[in-house]
Amino acid sequence: MNFKGKDIISIKDFSKKEIDYILEYAKKMVPYAKGEKYTDALKGKILSSLFFEPSTRTRLSFESSMNRLGGRSIGFADPSATSQKKGESLADTIRMADAYSDIIVIRHPQEGAARLAAEFSEAPVLNAGDGAGHHPTQCLLDLFTIFTEKKHIGKNNIVLLGDLKYGRTVHSLAYALALYGAELTFVSPASLKMPKEVVEECNELGIEPIQTSILDKAVKDADVLYVTRIQKERFPDAEEYNKVVGSYKIDNKLLSTTKQKLIIMHPLPRVTEIDPEVDYTNHALYFKQAFNGIPVRMALLSLVSGGLL
Ligand code: NCD
Repeated sequence: MNFKGKDIISIKDFSKKEIDYILEYAKKMVPYAKGEKYTDALKGKILSSLFFEPSTRTRLSFESSMNRLGGRSIGFADPSATSQKKGESLADTIRMADAYSDIIVIRHPQEGAARLAAEFSEAPVLNAGDGAGHHPTQCLLDLFTIFTEKKHIGKNNIVLLGDLKYGRTVHSLAYALALYGAELTFVSPASLKMPKEVVEECNELGIEPIQTSILDKAVKDADVLYVTRIQKERFPDAEEYNKVVGSYKIDNKLLSTTKQKLIIMHPLPRVTEIDPEVDYTNHALYFKQAFNGIPVRMALLSLVSGGLL
């Protein structure tokens, strides 16, 4: 399998076989991700990390991954300190990153921005989130987490909860889970339902997700509960946000009604949707999930550079 020079824009660009290959490759990266083994596989390579939107995990884990592989990274976390402020187009900014580096990671508030960036770059472009669109590297680390915890992906009953309308992580994940044949339930306030196109994509893969606004019943038989933040910054109207904020809260009381082996995932940041008391239970997988961003992104950086390591 050859990923050299490949852009990673949407999880839909990958077959199940390719995803399986990436997950196996990521497994081999774990000792390097933990700093137990050392490699210089990407020595001399430079990553541009272009973040036009706030980020903690995605940016830091990409940069850490590049460092762990012996490469280096340049970039910005705040576009107001770049020539964007002077009116430079995205295409020109990308042309510069292409000239200065070997791989480009981009997060941008506009859907389609990563796909556009890839058109202007010879270097592979990795989409770190484009508006409410896609977040394929998060999706791969989410799949990696389910795969390593549950030993398989498809045979799980999985609940996606929260802001399914604006949450890009769930758009990518719903498709990928359907590809693996997982049983899916989408729980959200009525105004934040999963977009029709995503539901239709699941249907085309033979999966009919249950859609509801009631969590208690949905979570009873779940193996995985994937919680998301209400995406305040994407609401066109503050009134609408105020109506749904605080709709769901995961706490120990709710967890006393679920399977003991239920795992709770969250792409983070969490705000109020998971009570901190849950952090101390065996259900809480979200911090481990965030760590998994390193082996998975190391695998991707290595693969798009030609499978070095
Ligand atoms: C998510 C994102 O940016 O889409 N965070 C992440 O990448 N881990 C989720 C969110 O912001 O709610």
